Amino acid sequence: MKPIVFIDRTVPSEVETRIAEHCVVDKWEGASPIPRELLLEKLANANGLLTAGSKVDAELLTHAPHLKAVSSISVGYNHFDLDAMKQRGVIGTHTPHVLNNTVADLAFALILGTARRVAELDRYVKEGKWKSGVGSSLFGQDVHHAKLGIIGMGRIGEAVARRARFGFEMEVSYFNRSRKPEAESLLGVRYQELNELLKDSDFVVMLAPLTPETTRLIGRDQFQLMKPSSIFINISRGQTVDEEALVEVLQSGAISAAGLDVFDNEPIPADHPFLKMDNVLTLPHIGSATTATRFDMAMLAAQNLVNALTGQSPANIVAELQ
Ligand code: DGY
Repeated sequence: MKPIVFIDRTVPSEVETRIAEHCVVDKWEGASPIPRELLLEKLANANGLLTAGSKVDAELLTHAPHLKAVSSISVGYNHFDLDAMKQRGVIGTHTPHVLNNTVADLAFALILGTARRVAELDRYVKEGKWKSGVGSSLFGQDVHHAKLGIIGMGRIGEAVARRARFGFEMEVSYFNRSRKPEAESLLGVRYQELNELLKDSDFVVMLAPLTPETTRLIGRDQFQLMKPSSIFINISRGQTVDEEALVEVLQSGAISAAGLDVFDNEPIPADHPFLKMDNVLTLPHIGSATTATRFDMAMLAAQNLVNALTGQSPANIVAELQ
């Protein structure tokens, strides 16, 4: 008998076809996210789930007694309750590698966008405020030759460092739970303790995955170490940062600007202070969101799921569940 798979969001037809070659497919076709209760109902007979952010916790697993594998179309897997999955023996897979360059490109969109005040000045032009040359109050900061500090030197961190060193001739340092001697010699980056990195950097890019150790890693005390001219970029997860503290340091001028692709609550609430701040560039969690990369991620996730359900070992089981 073919395994039963539930797909909880819209995916390209090729992705569905790949799964359907080996499995019976049921899917959510609504334009908005599937309501949790319906998802739990749909999983009653499912052996596999293809998702990108649905919380896979003890509650979901209780409603899914036949579930063997969950495949996420994402590199981050903080929506997996790893203990609950381990206890039930459910395989969890993700999609590393294929998105590295795309996410690194977005890091630079945020670095350049904040440094050169791109969104703010776009509004300035469109609102008819451009009457003569811009004065110094609208000047930005240089990215080239500036100091970049990367928190979380994984595969995406290395792709950001490569762009920084060889594209923008920046001085790059990194903080990571383990040293990366190979990256240090290949990319010419240096390791710094977190506090030193925060003190020295003109741009700080948060890339560490969300884990118990990185939750609220950067709070008031850490932001206070940064220079008043420095810029904070987050393309990891909102919860790695104390958002209230970030609002405060941006309002007080303790740091100069922030470029944010991720937030504590997504979508960000309409009354959030960030939305009224010219020195905050906000994006709707689009790190990997190009047509080509999202397609590659979905195809990889489909293959991971098929492999897990047909007894072939998937290559991309999340580290903690291996
Ligand atoms: C991921 O894959 O975890 C990214 O956050 C998506 O942009």
